Amino acid sequence: MMKNIDKKSLENAYRLFESGDINQIEIGTSKGLQHIHHYLFNGLYDFAGEIRSLNISKGSFRFATALYLNDILPKIEQMSEDSFEAIIAKYVEMNIAHPFMEGNGRSMRIWLDLILKKNLKKVVNWQFVDKTLYLQAMERSPINDLELRTLLAQHLSDDIDNREIIFKGIEQSYYYEGYDKTLDEE
Ligand SMILES: Nc1ncnc2c1ncn2[C@@H]1O[C@H](COP(=O)(O)OP(=O)(O)OP(=O)(O)O)[C@@H](O)[C@H]1O
Ligand SMILES: [Mg+2]
Repeated sequence: MMKNIDKKSLENAYRLFESGDINQIEIGTSKGLQHIHHYLFNGLYDFAGEIRSLNISKGSFRFATALYLNDILPKIEQMSEDSFEAIIAKYVEMNIAHPFMEGNGRSMRIWLDLILKKNLKKVVNWQFVDKTLYLQAMERSPINDLELRTLLAQHLSDDIDNREIIFKGIEQSYYYEGYDKTLDEE
């Protein structure tokens, strides 16, 4: 069962595309990502659109130290978007940064699609990206992003304005759920 907060956020995600507001988002920057996060979680989380100041982990992986995010994010924005490989490398770095307390996965998948659409005229057809394979590839990605690259390359679509691809993709994105993040203890 989906939590109420996630249901409301899903509605926000639909609205982001339906309203055309998605076209106002700056592409490939942390400002653009914050804008997406704010749109999805405004009124649901008090940190909507806000860069975290606490350290967080998932499984055994500790995301970037909060104190360094101000230095790291501008460097990630400057990473190349010249090829599929480069874009995935940029996405992986942003995932390692994990700038928000919660909702990183959902905002970043939209952020990734905007970059792919602008630079390659492609989007990920998320409805066909298997949840287990995706989460395994994401877990592996800080060490090696080959698995993630191979998986997503199999599900790229040229049909970038197809509503069904977009909306089924959003639903799938909301269905990916890893185990909950833990807040680092001192
Ligand atoms: N062990 C891991 N190491 C690195 N990245 C991970 C790991 N596990 C999950 N991820 C990535 O982090 C995302 C989850 O981050 P977060 O919980 O902040 O976002 P979310 O939108 O709430 O995501 P979800 O709905 O997928 O739980 C996953 O979707 C995946 O992309
Ligand atoms: Mg989560």
